[in-house]
Amino acid sequence: MNNQQSPKVTSNPLPLGGGREGAFKRTTVTSALPYANGGVHIGHLAGVYVPADIYVRYLRLKGEDVMFIGGSDEHGVPVTQRARKEGITPQQVVDRYHKMIKDSFEEFGISFDVYSRTTSKTHHQFASDFFRKLYDDGKLIEKTTKQFYDETTGTFKTDRDIVGECPHCHAEANGDQCEKCGRDLDPTELINPRSKESGAKLILKDTTNWFLPLNDYEGWLKEWILEGHKEWRSNVYGQCKSWLDMELQPRAMTRDLDWGIPVPVEGAEGKVLYVWFDAPIGYISNTKELCESNPERWGTWQRWWQDEETRLVHFIGKDNIVFHCIIFPVMMKAHGGYIMPDNVPANEFLNLEGDKISTSRNWAVWLHEYLVDFPGKQDVLRYALTASAPETKDNDFTWAEFQARNNNELVAVYGNFVNRALQLTQKYYDGVVPACGELTDFDRQTIAEFTDVKAKVEALLDNFKFRDAQKEAMNLARIGNKYLADSEPWKVIKTDPERVKTIINISLQLTANLAIAFEPFLPFSSKKLYGMLNVEALGWDNLGSTALLKAGHQLAKPELLFEKIEDEAIQAQMDRLARIKKENEAASYQAAPVKPNVSFETFEKLDIRVGLIKDCQKVKKSKKLLQFTIDDGTGTDRTILSGIAAFYEDPSALIGKRILFVANFEPRQMMGIESQGMILSAVDFDESLSVVTTTKDVKPGSQVG
Ligand code: MF3
Ligand code: ZN
Repeated sequence: MNNQQSPKVTSNPLPLGGGREGAFKRTTVTSALPYANGGVHIGHLAGVYVPADIYVRYLRLKGEDVMFIGGSDEHGVPVTQRARKEGITPQQVVDRYHKMIKDSFEEFGISFDVYSRTTSKTHHQFASDFFRKLYDDGKLIEKTTKQFYDETTGTFKTDRDIVGECPHCHAEANGDQCEKCGRDLDPTELINPRSKESGAKLILKDTTNWFLPLNDYEGWLKEWILEGHKEWRSNVYGQCKSWLDMELQPRAMTRDLDWGIPVPVEGAEGKVLYVWFDAPIGYISNTKELCESNPERWGTWQRWWQDEETRLVHFIGKDNIVFHCIIFPVMMKAHGGYIMPDNVPANEFLNLEGDKISTSRNWAVWLHEYLVDFPGKQDVLRYALTASAPETKDNDFTWAEFQARNNNELVAVYGNFVNRALQLTQKYYDGVVPACGELTDFDRQTIAEFTDVKAKVEALLDNFKFRDAQKEAMNLARIGNKYLADSEPWKVIKTDPERVKTIINISLQLTANLAIAFEPFLPFSSKKLYGMLNVEALGWDNLGSTALLKAGHQLAKPELLFEKIEDEAIQAQMDRLARIKKENEAASYQAAPVKPNVSFETFEKLDIRVGLIKDCQKVKKSKKLLQFTIDDGTGTDRTILSGIAAFYEDPSALIGKRILFVANFEPRQMMGIESQGMILSAVDFDESLSVVTTTKDVKPGSQVG
């Protein structure tokens, strides 16, 4: 082939930001440490772990030195709350969920170099030493403040452990936020603050803690972020700016709690490090753990955190911005010796079918459940989540879109092209790559188009634009489909078989390019595709080359790369969500207030009896009414109409049941039928109705009282 491109090594590293000139030698990539108080859901994946994984896979493919750090955040109030809810210890909670989270990440190909936990010995020691240095260097201030205290248990309460009446909307609210009206709260604003745990009324009591004087670093922060990092995503930069425009306050780095890392200061018994102090240090202690386990590969942890030639990138969700852009940098600055993050590509939130994802309301798609319903389809979810990643604004995950992304893009575009190229090679050449002949102008034009894709994808990935980068990769498959459709090898084979060899050769080179371009995004599919092409992974520098598969190379047997997802599978997911919504409504149901008292005489006026249903049918032309034929013990059947047809799809199923009815309810005419009484029904939380039955075969006509 005459325009072959030989693989070349790229040499255009990104400059260091923040006034640090020159090129970096390695990249430290962190992803927020998830709280080990629940599983991982699509919001976590879309917001943090998939983009981080795409980024590190891309850097690795380029041959760059990168470390990808993850781990579980095992301290903090969310863990203790979960323990209380499940009646187990915090340690049992984190043991269970750490394993579950770690397994989920592994299954979805989130390729951490280290995934450890903040209850590890290494971490406790590291965080403790870090705090002690700040303390010894006089970087912390000691302050006594009033905190809510539960006298019945002898414990201080943190914001999230306090409930009370919201001063704005008067709903029941948490100490830090009202879920009903969405306002941020300070627990002192609550009306009648109580302990979530014991329900006891809380008092304010003096306690001493250690504070980091963020205000002392304001000038430095403004210069470093507002002047030095204008290239940060606008949502991140904007949040930093609004924090820095307000006056920063000293922030407590210790808490009165019994779950966490003990404060390494004499007289601080019963106090632990603030979870947001210890958790980000977890990135560093996890690095240390990895380096010590394999020093030849990784060197010292300091290389990754204290060397000016290292770039640091934090992947997080938007609720973590202040901690990663202000508090953690100030901690590292106060300590001294650390590099600062070069970028913090935080995402906004992903909603699920229009509602906020919530662990406590189970409004989520859990990774471990997804894989039960869609085994082997990790890449489909990765693809769909990147395609609707909340990069610039909150976004919505819907099952309909998930299905469309799979069927109309992965199957109909990517899978279809690959399958056609491979099947034609099987059919015409027994799976052997044919030689490329003379190129036409159309061939050249196609090759030029897909050679461009490399630079485009790189520019987008270097700027953390994962959605658009993935779109470019898919564009490569579109170019391929168009190439095959326009060059029509299945027709040309009859008139000019030599020409078809060139068309198929180019299509196969394109296929190999797709495996490379999609590798950071869809690692499982690329692996499968490399297998079908019978080659080892090709490496990023080969992207854009048309000399990846030599003439005469034998391919393996083709299989389908993706398969259609049917409507039934999607409906099952929608049904599951509908069920959860109902359960949540039931859980939040509040019984109606009790009506004014009545005397026994008043009650006695009602003649309530047991009736046996002999027949039950829908009333013709009425959507609401059921006609009951009741054995009321008198020997004559009684007819009663009741407006509950909507709740009994098959009314005959009621035949034989014993129900309660008011026998002296004034007869009424409805739809030309006389109704002789009223059947008693319970009104459920969702306004649906159920007849009331007896637990024993009571004789029809028995009185109820
Ligand atoms: N556990 C926190 C959350 O889920 C994130 C911690 S990130 C770290 O919001 F920097 F603290 F590790
Ligand atoms: Zn409120």
